[in-house]
This record gives sequence, C-alpha cells and structure tokens, in this order.
Amino acid sequence: MVTLINEEIQKLSDSECIARIREHKARLGKELLILAHNYQRYDIVALSDYYSDSLDLAKRGKEAVEAKNIIFCGVHFMAQTSRVLASSDQRVFLPNHLAGCPLSDFAEIDQAETAWDEVTRIVGEDNIVPVAYVNSTVLIKAVCGRHDGTICTSANAKKVFTHYLKQNKRILFMPDEHLGHNTAVQLGIPRDEIVLYDPSKINGGLTEDQIKKGRIFLWKGHCHVHTAFTPELIHSMRERYPDAVVIVHPECPEPTVHAADLVGSTKFMAEYVKTAETGKTIVIGTEVNHVRNLAIQNPHLRILELSRSLCPNMFKINLKNLLYTLDNLGEVNEIFVKEDIKADALKAVERMFEITG
Ligand code: 13P
Ligand code: SF4
Repeated sequence: MVTLINEEIQKLSDSECIARIREHKARLGKELLILAHNYQRYDIVALSDYYSDSLDLAKRGKEAVEAKNIIFCGVHFMAQTSRVLASSDQRVFLPNHLAGCPLSDFAEIDQAETAWDEVTRIVGEDNIVPVAYVNSTVLIKAVCGRHDGTICTSANAKKVFTHYLKQNKRILFMPDEHLGHNTAVQLGIPRDEIVLYDPSKINGGLTEDQIKKGRIFLWKGHCHVHTAFTPELIHSMRERYPDAVVIVHPECPEPTVHAADLVGSTKFMAEYVKTAETGKTIVIGTEVNHVRNLAIQNPHLRILELSRSLCPNMFKINLKNLLYTLDNLGEVNEIFVKEDIKADALKAVERMFEITG
C-alpha cells in the first residue's frame, strides 16, 4: 500500500501541518495515542504523546487501553508489534507503509522454518529455542511463538539469553548477527560456540560438527545504519575530543563496540545523557536523528554524532503523512495482521514480558 498525500497537504508549510496535527490531537484527546521511536525527526518526536526505544513503545501501546487509535511513527515491524499487542477495539496506523526495516527483511518465514528444521534435526528440538530480535517481521515472531520461543529487544537481549542459557538451551537468534554476537560475547560464551547461520546455504553453511558444538546460532543479517560505525571513526573522535565518552548501539559490529566506552539501546543512551554533568562531551554511534534530538534537548552537554548515519526508513515518516493519516483517520494507513499469525506472535511477545518482567 503506497501512502498518498493529497495536493492540499503537499502545499502546506511545516507550521501549518503542526497546527492542524495539534487540532486533531485536541479534538481526539485520549482516544488518540501518537507513539514515536527515538529515531524519528525532532518535529515528530515533539508532537508525539510518548517517544522511546522499541521495548518501551511496545509496552506503552499495550497499556494505553483508552487509546482507540494508535499512530505509530516508526517502521513497519514496530507498528506490527503494536498491532499484535493492541486489543480488538484498538486500531494501529503507520503514516507511511513504505517505512520498512532492511534488517527485519533479512529473515523470511520459509528460511526461518528451514533453519529450525536443519538445526533441530541435529541438536534436537528440546535443546534449542528460537529468539527473534524485535526488529523482525511479525511472521518471524510467529515462528518463534509456534516453537516455544520468544523475542527480545536490544535493551533486554542479555536477560533473555541468560534465561535460556541457564536452562542449558541453545539459541537460534534472528535476524541481527551483531546484537546476537555482542550479547553472547558479553555473557562469556566461547567464540567457537557462537556460529553464524547463513540462510542462503544448506545447513546455514555449517558442518554437522559446528552445529553440534553451537550454542548461539546467529542469523546472517545486519543493520546498514549501524555497520557504518567503525573503530577508526571512534579513534578519530577520541583524538579530537580526548575527554569524550563514546556510546554505541549493540547493532554495531564487535570491533566498534570494543572501541567504545559504553554500549546500549537508544533508551540507555537517553538515560546516560540525563545524568551527565554539564559540559560533558558524549559521542553517540546510532541513527543520527536520535543523536540530534538528544543534542537539542540537552544544550548543556556537547552531544556529537560518531558519524551521520541516517535510517532512510525512519525518515519516511513526516509531518505531511502524519497529518494525512489524521485527516483520514480510520480510512488510510492501517496495519493489519492475520489472526493466526497474531496469536502465534503474541505468544512470543508475551513470553518476553514473562521472562523480563
Ligand atoms: P532500540 O530498541 O534501541 O530502540 O533500537 C531499535 C532500532 O531500530 C535500532 O536500529
Ligand atoms: Fe531497521 Fe536499522 Fe533503521 Fe533500526 S536503524 S529501523 S534496524 S534499518
């Protein structure tokens, strides 16, 4: 479905759009909930009722029972998760259906089922659990739900991995190899027990011995916004700002995480910034709009981009398509998930809440 914006909206200035969005908000009151991911541009964040990381947003949509209409300013998988958690009398909208996530597209349902069959044939179904990063399609979350698995976010991956490792379970983690790798390394898993499963190859390109030895199976997939951050960029920022603290997102490759001072989700970054002392220099390696938003909100700090890496999909949400969604509320841009898929995905999402509290 392609989002249409009518000619009348096309001609509006930003301030006219903002004024009309505010009118809709005032008219709809608590019936409307606008959620925005931290990577949204500042004008969208400023108009939202709540903005945060993907874990918080999933929870907030679930808790806001009075909101009949949830407009999710983020990418497709996030709006799908919100749809899965919403009740039957709530409706979820994404202002631009072209706002996908290339990372989530690395894992397709048939590939995930094949991977599950190939690995369980060798290690046994009782010894492994599928875990999907929240940045995955609802179909992948449903695969996890069907096979007694769960999902996780970058904020709770460690907790979820620990939960299963304590039960001596292996983990098939989809679709971000870097978050999975960084989490496994942080938990002290030996490197030869962390194996990369390439879905384009038979048995993921692994030998039977490698599969038998594997404890963490990482899906070959990545976020191009975060693989753009390199250790060299960190070294050059340290040369220019020797006192800076460098924080990166766990979707960055291990050498980048290793070169940084801290690693954490977008909420972790926001919380770190909140407690930093005036004048501190903080270099952040994540999507550029989050860094800019934090810099705008904290003028007493020097908050710098590690480099200008923009998520073009997050950027597809703008004032005009938000206004168009509100002008035509209920008629355009709704997110639907088939009932059977929703039920399986919900099992996976609720299991995450049970594990992480
Ligand atoms: P957070 O879960 O940290 O908000 O990150 C989501 C995301 O899309 C990272 O690229
Ligand atoms: Fe997907 Fe990366 Fe954009 Fe996050 S930043 S939504 S993982 S493409």
